[in-house]
Amino acid sequence: MTARTASTNPTHAVGLLFLRTAVIAALAGLGLGIFMGASHDHTFRTVHVHINLVGWVSLFLFGLFYTLVGAASARLAKAHYCLAAAGLVLFAIGLPGIVLGHAWGEPVAIAASFATLFSMVIFACVVFTAHGPSDTSAG
Ligand code: HEM
Ligand code: HEM
Repeated sequence: MTARTASTNPTHAVGLLFLRTAVIAALAGLGLGIFMGASHDHTFRTVHVHINLVGWVSLFLFGLFYTLVGAASARLAKAHYCLAAAGLVLFAIGLPGIVLGHAWGEPVAIAASFATLFSMVIFACVVFTAHGPSDTSAG
């Protein structure tokens, strides 16, 4: 597989946005992990897990896809980013809410779940409609 240059890849900018959001999530997730380890208080384990896996790992993988392969539709790629980022932010708010026993935590986490699920449905469409590294069309 040949990597595409920014000039031939219409979704390169979305890819960079994914990569940059992912490293911010990594810093937050690692910071929380260090806090949990140092304090011997693992109350926020679920928050740590989802920030690291839904944030750092998943978003970085999406970023690699958009920068290396690219999508046929820039509009779909942008919708994917908005929903995936919304899911991460809502998880980072809702999960601590649940853990701390706040009533608003659950609806926020449910919204996060659906945003994450729909973002993956969009990504499935992106992957199945991608033409590979030689595709230069944008939608
Ligand atoms: C600075 C780095 C990190 C520190 C200090 C750290 C610390 C911790 C701590 C203290 C726990 C709780 C363990 C428990 O309650 O049994 C935990 C759980 C976990 N961490 Fe991290 N973590 C780090 C990085 C990461 C990264 C990068 C990922 C994923 C990409 C990750 C994924 C997980 C998972 C999946 C669990 C749950 C494990 C289980 O339930 O058995 N962690 N981490
Ligand atoms: C629709 C989105 C998701 C929902 C609703 C969801 C929900 C949950 C729930 C309810 C738990 C159990 C928490 C606990 O026992 O404290 C859990 C654990 C976990 N989830 Fe998710 N999750 C989602 C997405 C993901 C994704 C995308 C990943 C990985 C990329 C992931 C990785 C994990 C891991 C590793 C654990 C075990 C954590 C631990 O042992 O503490 N989740 N998730």
